[in-house]
Amino acid sequence: MALIQLFLLFSVARAAFAATAEEWRGRSIYQIIVDRFALPDGADPNACDTSKQTWCGGNWKTIKDNLDYIQDAGFTAIWISPISQNYQGERTPYGDPYHGYWIQDASKLNEKFGTADDLKALSDEVHRRGMYLMVDVVVNNVMALSNTPDLSKFLFKEQSQYHPYCPVDYSNITSEQNCWLGDTNVYLPDVNTQDSTVVSTYQDWVKNMVQTYNIDGLRIDAAKHVNTDFWPKFCGAAGVFCIGEVYETSVDNAAQYQGEQALDSILNYPLYAALTNGFAIPGPLNLSAIADTMAQSKQKFKDPGLLGNFLENQDVPRWGNLSVDPQSLYNAMAFTFMSDGIPIVYYGQEQYFSGGNDPYNREPLWPSKYQNTTAYQIMSTLNKLRNFLINGTDDWLHSPAQLLTTTPHGLSVMKGNVISILTNIGSPPANLSVAVYTPFENNFATTDVLSCRQWAVGSNGTVDVEYTRGGQPVVLVPSSQLEGSGLCGYAVKNSTKSAASMASGAPSGLSRYDAMMTSALLILLTLGSFVFN
Ligand SMILES: *[C@@H]1O[C@H](CO)[C@@H](O)[C@H](O)[C@H]1NC(C)=O
Ligand SMILES: *[C@@H]1O[C@H](CO)[C@@H](O)[C@H](O)[C@H]1NC(C)=O
Ligand SMILES: *[C@@H]1O[C@H](CO)[C@@H](O)[C@H](O)[C@H]1NC(C)=O
Ligand SMILES: *[C@@H]1O[C@H](CO)[C@@H](O)[C@H](O)[C@H]1NC(C)=O
Ligand SMILES: *[C@@H]1O[C@H](CO)[C@@H](O)[C@H](O)[C@H]1NC(C)=O
Ligand SMILES: *[C@@H]1O[C@H](CO)[C@@H](O)[C@H](O)[C@H]1NC(C)=O
Ligand SMILES: *[C@@H]1O[C@H](CO)[C@@H](O)[C@H](O)[C@H]1NC(C)=O
Ligand SMILES: *[C@@H]1O[C@H](CO)[C@@H](O)[C@H](O)[C@H]1NC(C)=O
Repeated sequence: MALIQLFLLFSVARAAFAATAEEWRGRSIYQIIVDRFALPDGADPNACDTSKQTWCGGNWKTIKDNLDYIQDAGFTAIWISPISQNYQGERTPYGDPYHGYWIQDASKLNEKFGTADDLKALSDEVHRRGMYLMVDVVVNNVMALSNTPDLSKFLFKEQSQYHPYCPVDYSNITSEQNCWLGDTNVYLPDVNTQDSTVVSTYQDWVKNMVQTYNIDGLRIDAAKHVNTDFWPKFCGAAGVFCIGEVYETSVDNAAQYQGEQALDSILNYPLYAALTNGFAIPGPLNLSAIADTMAQSKQKFKDPGLLGNFLENQDVPRWGNLSVDPQSLYNAMAFTFMSDGIPIVYYGQEQYFSGGNDPYNREPLWPSKYQNTTAYQIMSTLNKLRNFLINGTDDWLHSPAQLLTTTPHGLSVMKGNVISILTNIGSPPANLSVAVYTPFENNFATTDVLSCRQWAVGSNGTVDVEYTRGGQPVVLVPSSQLEGSGLCGYAVKNSTKSAASMASGAPSGLSRYDAMMTSALLILLTLGSFVFN
């Protein structure tokens, strides 16, 4: 009996942490700055001013208490800002370390955000919901107010455990790795990640941290600024998926950081640059940049399906700061969910936040009142569809996305059986259309999951999307495949959660809705193709 209990405990523990890259591939991540996500009861909701660069009161417990908002939108993982102890001195020219990236002693917890028990309770609650926990780690550097800091408060106390001070020369990779990030107001002393004691201490630390808090994955800050050969052993010791920050928009350069010689994955800055290029209004509206990045990524990245696709984060302006038209957000967002890669949404993106660069892009979430906005609903639908497809039969997740069409105003991308037709014309109606040649047969029935309209494929496999009511994204799924999805009136699958039932996604009988839609479809068939309106 005791042995069986022990075994069960062990399997539960094993299931709860050490998630691999393969397990993360099908996840969808909501990124949080701990200080800015939710307030404790009784706190003043109007006190947070981003320009003041100081703490606003969020913590690990308030995240735990507000996970419904994230899970209801279909996310299956959260990424939280760093948990390690930060700089504790007087205010700096850039304010206080509310963001958590100014590491003092990595091996200690940041008491500002709660206790070890609070963090464990958050982790337990995330896992109870079947979600994963990703924690941001800063290994490259600590923080100091001078270039001759007192080392006694840091995890590494020897001079030899730091690279000597030099400002980074961004045209020289050795300098990027060994010199100090930051500036002369706030220095970020560069830890000597070639030193064998540093290497082994970091490995012991990360292994312990991952086990203590049941962490499923790591987001690695400034990963590009550490000697690449540091990562395989560090992530090996952690035993979990690692996604690195490599602030690099060239596919050629970025691709070198994914693979056995480096990291499982990186944040997809090349795609970010291409999406802003293609969709932001105003902007160059250059959809070829997206086609180009997709083609290059397929060729050069080891595994594009693991890259972290995003439109916003704490280091770039909000989408709403770059682009004034909400349709541009919806179209670009559909691309991040419905092509290759792991979708990541930065908290507040769903609330149309529009702050510019740091610190304005770290708004408190609570003034939004966590409203069920159109953006929130669109991401919920995209998550719901993606989660459903991932648990389906056709191995949607591993089917590489293909570009079907690029025109000056639109592009269409197909992954598995799902065809997304996206445009950059924005909200105003236009007499424009995008013609897509699909591999589907004439009269094949599909549903746009964002509008729930049925579309019949026209002759020669064409789908013609017209924008006489504005530039909405269209995500077409074969209607028969939506059975069990809970989308567009199709019933939710009566899931017993057995492996067998999850694996068999074969469409079952016609639902009442199907029968209802058949007459609607007949009308559409007579039109050949359907005008979007
Ligand atoms: C690159 O940076 C490193 C580290 O600062 C320095 O030693 C080296 O001389 C630099 N190389 C060039 C070509 O400037
Ligand atoms: C659009 O992007 C493509 C591919 O990156 C590039 O070759 C082209 O010059 C860009 N066009 C404009 C007008 O910027
Ligand atoms: C962009 O951000 C800056 C700084 O937060 C702000 O002053 C500006 O109004 C924002 N622009 C838009 C379009 O939201
Ligand atoms: C948001 O609103 C939509 C449309 O009314 C509704 O279907 C959905 O359940 C709502 N979501 C939440 C979390 O309230
Ligand atoms: C797919 O189904 C499995 C088994 O029920 C579940 O653990 C997993 O969370 C599901 N994945 C998604 C992305 O919904
Ligand atoms: C589109 O074309 C029709 C017919 O030529 C015209 O009546 C209508 O005003 C046009 N709409 C726009 C938004 O240009
Ligand atoms: C039929 O579709 C193909 C692409 O699948 C396209 O090249 C061809 O021009 C189309 N023919 C007609 C008559 O539209
Ligand atoms: C789901 O299936 C179970 C077992 O087959 C059955 O008892 C239950 O009534 C079903 N629920 C619904 C809503 O159909």
